[in-house]
Amino acid sequence: MPKHVAVIMDGNGRWAKKRGNQRIFGHRNGVQSVRETVRAAGELEIDYLTLYAFSTENWNRPKKEIDALMSLLITSIEKETPELIKNNVRLVTIGDQSLISEKVKTKLDGLIAKTKENTGLTVVLALSYSARWEITMAMQQIAKSIESGDLKPEEVTEQTITTTLSTAKIPDPDLLIRTSGEHRISNFLLWQIAYAELYFTETLWPDFRAENFYEAIYAYQQRERRFGKTSEQIL
Ligand code: IPE
Ligand code: IPE
Ligand code: MG
Repeated sequence: MPKHVAVIMDGNGRWAKKRGNQRIFGHRNGVQSVRETVRAAGELEIDYLTLYAFSTENWNRPKKEIDALMSLLITSIEKETPELIKNNVRLVTIGDQSLISEKVKTKLDGLIAKTKENTGLTVVLALSYSARWEITMAMQQIAKSIESGDLKPEEVTEQTITTTLSTAKIPDPDLLIRTSGEHRISNFLLWQIAYAELYFTETLWPDFRAENFYEAIYAYQQRERRFGKTSEQIL
């Protein structure tokens, strides 16, 4: 079983368009997919589920869509809080908070505080997140430590970088799922997915159900993770 599954939840707009509807209709229908995926991951006793909800680049979308997405986020938090608490889910977020409105931040911080003692599944919500932004911030921090004399350049190791990223306390994803048939990473967890198994499905996010999640886990279990070694060394 993977310890950490990351998901690029893609295809909401196309799902809505196929039905002659506005993009936001797809986002709204994607909430049920989030609910099912969180429940399925919890039931499988997966430790971490990272969900790519909104990228730094998504701020370039039409304002109307961004506003609708942000209010959908607020209403979803309000609606899902009891269920998350009941299921012992802990919520954390990664991303550029400085771009998020106070209203959204307040709601999110409330849910984070309410679930912080929970010991089950950790849901990492990647919101206003991009990997290059995250790596840039980490580099700035490391540069400051060097400038202040706390760190020598030759003391910078992979571990230094790993623990300076916003995912410092989270193990790397074992499995990365992307829906909607796109075969790209779109600036998600670039450092952390160095050895993740990639799984792509044509299913659009609003159609994604627990069964689709199980299928991805099953595909993962058929893979041989060699981490650079030979097959014989693994067996
Ligand atoms: C994913 O669906 C959700 C977000 C990026 C917020 P999209 O909105 O990207 O849907 P498509 O890819 O246009 O179909
Ligand atoms: C990636 O989806 C971001 C999220 C799912 C939140 P996009 O729809 O923004 O990615 P591109 O633009 O197709 O690469
Ligand atoms: Mg998309």
